[in-house]
Amino acid sequence: LPVAEAAQKPVTKTLPDAQTVTSVKHWTDRLFSFRVSRPASLRFRSGEFVMIGLLGDNGKPLLRAYSIASPNWDEELEFYSIKVPDGPLTSKLQHIQPGDEIILRPKPVGTLVLDALLPGKRLWFLATGTGLAPFASLMRDPETYERYEQVIMMHTCRTAEELTYGRELVENLRHDPLLGELYGEDFANRLLYYPTTTREETPLMGRITDNMTSGKVFQDLNLPPMSPETDRAMICGSLAFNIDVKEVLEGFGLNEGANSDPKEFVVEKAFVGDGI
Ligand code: FAD
Ligand code: A2P
Repeated sequence: LPVAEAAQKPVTKTLPDAQTVTSVKHWTDRLFSFRVSRPASLRFRSGEFVMIGLLGDNGKPLLRAYSIASPNWDEELEFYSIKVPDGPLTSKLQHIQPGDEIILRPKPVGTLVLDALLPGKRLWFLATGTGLAPFASLMRDPETYERYEQVIMMHTCRTAEELTYGRELVENLRHDPLLGELYGEDFANRLLYYPTTTREETPLMGRITDNMTSGKVFQDLNLPPMSPETDRAMICGSLAFNIDVKEVLEGFGLNEGANSDPKEFVVEKAFVGDGI
């Protein structure tokens, strides 16, 4: 805005639970990420989600669940979002600009938290599409590497460009000063990244379920097959994906846990309403 016009903008917050957008990045015509100010009082565990949104046409808040994609030490909050063409929220949310306000209800919840898993050697993050978001938080949290010797991020999308947000995040982590200081050269071996596509030719291909049942991912990463003694997992994708991965993990002998009953894996839907 020109300075004179900006000065006329009301300084009082116009929305309940308003936070200010600080940056927006569009990754594809279906995916974008954005950062907002963080309420001073907001504490959350990496992996949790909150309700965010905008004022609807009827003047009432239009809210949706969103995983916080930033780690809990970050002074801002980051979100990674789909753009659903006719989606009530995202058809509007995709147009936000720095300086705009969004609504953020400061009540974080969710099952994809480290406390919901038993200790172990390796932690697997299994995601499709925007299901990467909670793991974008957990991958950037040093506590993840304090608890597990190795973290494996498996992310599957239809095309290569849909992997870009996650790929850049992992590349940036390789040069992260905090993790570099803690783990040095060894960090490349602490966080393994296994991105695959299913509808475009790329170096690594195939569904997560297929790459686990065939053993391909274990061969490629030079790891033993999953076992309940050593391996823990978190799943985040469509309902169909979550159901199929759960079955694969149970086949390896892992059991589903929860905040109140930590076990070998936990599951959360990346969105609702896709059917199966
Ligand atoms: P809606 O009416 O909510 O959805 C319309 C349709 O679009 C859905 O029926 C579904 O088929 C499809 N859809 C919705 N969300 C997605 C998606 N993320 N990927 C693929 N298809 C989708 N969305 C995010 O973009 N990022 C997140 O971090 C995120 N975290 C979530 C965490 C939880 C626990 C849950 C339950 C949902 C999460 N969602 C997330 C989905 C989000 O709540 C909204 O559904 C999404 O923002 C679309 O809102 P909408 O009003 O535009 O359309
Ligand atoms: P595929 O292309 O073989 O369907 P979508 O865009 O439909 O949400 O899917 C995102 C990614 O998740 C795609 O690569 C898709 O593979 C994969 N996928 C969808 N459903 C499942 C499932 N039930 N099990 C494993 N992978 C799945």
